Amino acid sequence: MATRGASGKQPVALHELAYRPALHTPSHPTRWEFPAYLDNPSCRWLQALRRLYAEPIAFPASLSPEAGLLLHALVRNVRPRIAIETGTFVGVSTLWIAGALAENGDGGRVHSFDTFGPIGRAPWRDVEMLTGRREFVEARIAEAGLDAFVALHAGDSADAIRALHGAAFGDGDVAFAFVDGDHSAEGTWRDVLAIEPLLPTGGFLVLHDTFPDYSSHVGPRAVLDQLEERAAGCYESVDVYLAPVNYGLAVVRRVG
Ligand SMILES: C[S@@+](CC[C@H](N)C(=O)[O-])C[C@H]1O[C@@H](n2cnc3c(N)ncnc32)[C@H](O)[C@@H]1O
Repeated sequence: MATRGASGKQPVALHELAYRPALHTPSHPTRWEFPAYLDNPSCRWLQALRRLYAEPIAFPASLSPEAGLLLHALVRNVRPRIAIETGTFVGVSTLWIAGALAENGDGGRVHSFDTFGPIGRAPWRDVEMLTGRREFVEARIAEAGLDAFVALHAGDSADAIRALHGAAFGDGDVAFAFVDGDHSAEGTWRDVLAIEPLLPTGGFLVLHDTFPDYSSHVGPRAVLDQLEERAAGCYESVDVYLAPVNYGLAVVRRVG
């Protein structure tokens, strides 16, 4: 029987794919809006997340609530027993992942890596956190009731992950990794290559800030563009647009 589908259509070169939605608001937002439907008084980790999103330091470098929901849904469905995150920042994405692991209820844990160095002022961020970031994140995790689901690691993420190969992590142990640390091309590659031996066939790598025009970071895009040439046929990926600011997110699955 003949099938109907994309017959007669031609693939579009990525640079011709103009649909990269602009801001969902006429001007750049200045803070995150936590959706009212997630303001659930009986869910401790969502309440802690709502308060964290209200902290000025959380904007704009944390994952947006919409993107966090996406990350959370992936972890709920992939159900990794061990997840890795590079780039804890102030803990927003960590809470989204750990909240999913808690809801999964099967003993999963996220290992989150950051230098925990000082955060300075930057565009859209008129506050700083020069010291005490790790303690700040630990307090947010405790407030969320998620201590059992998170292990924080201080230091350069690629080095720290490699140091745990064969100890906390065996080959193929990490079915889900979120890469959001050093956003230079070299730094993103170092994270991805440190994680790669741990990723089973079928495992997921999620990269944030994949649209340089919006995020002003080049590393994640460079890794995606070079992945095919460095590991032909071993990965498939899809770009996802993000609201309210389209920093971009890529979901990469290891298939080889
Ligand atoms: C954009 S923020 C991460 C945001 C966070 N994932 C979230 O959505 O809430 C990037 C983080 O990467 C960290 N970072 C940068 N280079 C790093 C490195 N080489 N090793 C570990 N962490 C690094 C920074 O300290 C910063 O906290």
